[in-house]
Amino acid sequence: MPRTYILSDIKIAPFISKGSDEYVGDGIIAVDGETIGFIGDADDLPQQYRESEVRALGGRLVTPGLIDCHTHLVYGGSRAREFEMRLTGASYEDIMTAGGGIFSTVEATRRASESGLLASALQRVDNLIREGVTTIEVKSGYGLDTETELKMLRVARRLGEERHIRVRTTFLGAHAYPKDMGADDYLEQICLPTMEEVAAEGLVDAVDGFCETVGFTPAQIERVFNAAEKLGLPVKLHAEQLSDQGGAALAASHNALSADHLEYLSDAGIAAMADAGTVAVLLPAAFYALRETKLPPIQKLRDAGVPMALATDSNPGTSPMTSLLLTMNMGATLFGMTPQECLEGVTVHAARALGLNDCGQIKAGKHADLAIWNFSDPAEMSYRIGDAPLHMRIFGGETC
Ligand code: NIG
Ligand code: FE
Repeated sequence: MPRTYILSDIKIAPFISKGSDEYVGDGIIAVDGETIGFIGDADDLPQQYRESEVRALGGRLVTPGLIDCHTHLVYGGSRAREFEMRLTGASYEDIMTAGGGIFSTVEATRRASESGLLASALQRVDNLIREGVTTIEVKSGYGLDTETELKMLRVARRLGEERHIRVRTTFLGAHAYPKDMGADDYLEQICLPTMEEVAAEGLVDAVDGFCETVGFTPAQIERVFNAAEKLGLPVKLHAEQLSDQGGAALAASHNALSADHLEYLSDAGIAAMADAGTVAVLLPAAFYALRETKLPPIQKLRDAGVPMALATDSNPGTSPMTSLLLTMNMGATLFGMTPQECLEGVTVHAARALGLNDCGQIKAGKHADLAIWNFSDPAEMSYRIGDAPLHMRIFGGETC
């Protein structure tokens, strides 16, 4: 018997509820089992919910449960030494070319047991849960061999069994290639066959790549995308993070769900993304941790109507970050996004970047994934630094 209850005495972020200004301020929400049954004025509450238990929330803000749509949070080891090297002048590319960077995490991830990987990833997931996150994306890409890529994706799926959180998995086999093998051989012999295997095991929801001078060329990424399309998997791309490779336009031409990072995005890339409806996933913690100075073209993305999402990019190299609220603060402070854009970036647009349309909004029929905050003004979410302002998290109608 699904449980129904009413959330009353709440503030609902207007742009989330109906894509309009209809709910500036008050309203009530009926949770009907795992979904939202009703949102609107108390007077319009359908008869079927009128006897339901009422939970009064003291005027608190209700948002959709937050969505972290770009993470690499399953990995072994730490890169604290490289952090120190970068502080004394080495660049991310220098470290990777010398065999560190992604390669050092590959070694540690290969060595790690499945239970060890799970335990460390759960700590990061718990940090996100404490901030009202109800959906995360997790990428593979620290295996570069079939066995370890499978291991990472199995661990990612387990996260959703061990915790009340929804997990979307992304195959990032085209993250780097082993130094003793060329990129093309790696794609042919390891990456593409592994993609088929993880897809056959039902371990993957999308395919990603790293299009960069220290990663893969656009032509190589195109092979990855073509193979993904044959398997019926949607694509996304790490694009224009360190240089302009034309990756975003390539991704858009394959109807990518998202192009991510985008500091070096060109006007042509913006136009292509706008045409294709590809989401711009912005990762200010990676910008911050790499002490990047080139900002992504926020105003141009805004003018072109490209939806902007924000995510932690949680990974041991460029973004040792497990706070989506701090990410929102960085989106505002470093990138000049408005608090409203930051909130949309971790809800409705983040859902779209994952190809989901049943969460990220408070609407009848959507998953009852909600976050209730100890304040009423949505701008507080982006404004505070280091606070713990979550009052309650609801996942699939359950308080947890
Ligand atoms: O999103 N740039 C490529 N991938 C990751 C970093 C991976 C790593 O350094 O371990 C990113 O920034
Ligand atoms: Fe990333």
